Amino acid sequence: MRTSETNLAHLIDLPVISDPRGDLTFVEGERHVPFRIARVYYLYNVPVDAERGGHAHYELEQVIFALSGSFRITVDDGRGRAAYWLRDPRKGLYIRNMIWREMDSFSQGAVCMVLASHPYDEGDYLRDYKSFMTALKAL
Ligand code: TYD
Repeated sequence: MRTSETNLAHLIDLPVISDPRGDLTFVEGERHVPFRIARVYYLYNVPVDAERGGHAHYELEQVIFALSGSFRITVDDGRGRAAYWLRDPRKGLYIRNMIWREMDSFSQGAVCMVLASHPYDEGDYLRDYKSFMTALKAL
């Protein structure tokens, strides 16, 4: 596993086993991603002009992959922003808690897979940017 760090998020390179039959990539919790994987969800049939995300999480950590196609993720820690284009199924974007994220520019047929550290909990979401900034200041 190799990572390239920024303060906002970092890319995780997963292993790939290639042979003439194709490529195989695998991911194990607490080995390739820094948490136990409690949930996996995926986005598909996403209209190319859709905007997703638009929230942060109090506790949740995630690693986001483009299994097919591509899309952009913008991350924001309240002090700065960075944008990542995901298009390689071997590379996941690790996003810690208390990071605002927005996703857009989905290619036709893109599939986004997300590994998450906790089960779904609406109470863990900060869905309003002002509330996110207030919560950051309270840390
Ligand atoms: P949301 O996390 O806002 O999607 P995105 O960040 O991809 O735009 O979730 C959209 C809806 O789906 C929202 O009503 C919550 C629901 N949902 C679940 O019920 N379980 C889940 O695991 C997730 C991720 C979302």
